[in-house]
Amino acid sequence: MEFILVDPQARPHVALIQLNRPKELNALNLQLMGELRDTLKQLDDDEQVRAIIIAGNERAFAAGADIKQMAGKTAIDMLNVDQFSTWDQIRKTKKPIIAAVSGFALGGGCELAMTCDMIVASETATFGQPEIKIGVMPGAGGTQRLTRAIGKAKAMEMVLTGKFMSAAEAEKHGLINRVVPVELYLEEAFRLAADVAQMSPVAARLAKEAVNRSFETQLDEGLHFERKNFYLCFASDDQKEGMAAFVEKRKPDFKGR
Ligand code: HXC
Repeated sequence: MEFILVDPQARPHVALIQLNRPKELNALNLQLMGELRDTLKQLDDDEQVRAIIIAGNERAFAAGADIKQMAGKTAIDMLNVDQFSTWDQIRKTKKPIIAAVSGFALGGGCELAMTCDMIVASETATFGQPEIKIGVMPGAGGTQRLTRAIGKAKAMEMVLTGKFMSAAEAEKHGLINRVVPVELYLEEAFRLAADVAQMSPVAARLAKEAVNRSFETQLDEGLHFERKNFYLCFASDDQKEGMAAFVEKRKPDFKGR
């Protein structure tokens, strides 16, 4: 891996991926995205991993897709490169992913954070979809996920003017989970990941899938999907263990089976 650092057991059952192109503010070139896709697939297949954190560094989570790599491309080049199949695979990661964001999360960087399941931000985090300023528009889900997260008016303003949103505002509008001082943001992400990693991995996977389904379906179909996944939980040892532990007044020991 050239552009990302991976620690599959940064904490018990928690993996850490760090985007690592600091000089370019972690601009997301095709190689970095390919490395991220392959790593997420490996971590998804690793039974020891129950939650994943994606972080950048203090100055930048990621300042967007690599503009220099895209600048000379034609529409057909972009079509043939088909970078969004990589994004689609990332989106299909089954394990919970937390974005730990400090500094710039712009364009594809903001979209990557929104592709994750939760976002923990430092007070210095800045979110934006500034593609309009370079003559394009969001392409990796920005117009859809931002709108669903913060509503049409604010999303439209960000997408049409390229204006940034501070971490405090992003928290107020429901884009992110919480804001903490910069020296604590990674630790806070680990804390949240540890909370998730204590739960049944089977139930977490089914629950993540069901929450995400709410973006894709009508209520009736979403409720039906939820019910099926709820029933499926009862096929797991973890359900037996979780409920037995409650009755016996002890902590459950989930095995992901
Ligand atoms: C390539 C980038 C980059 C990017 C920063 N750099 N962002 N290179 N692609 N997206 C490089 C700069 O060229 C520079 O390298 C170095 O990182 C430091 O950046 P500076 O601009 O010198 O830093 P600063 O003055 O602090 O400004 C920070 C910034 C600015 C406000 C974040 O860099 C900026 O506006 N970046 C572009 C943000 C953007 O438009 N993102 C959307 C991209 S389009 P050199 O070598 O010159 O010193 C997109 C579409 C997604 O994301 C579609 C789906 C994938």
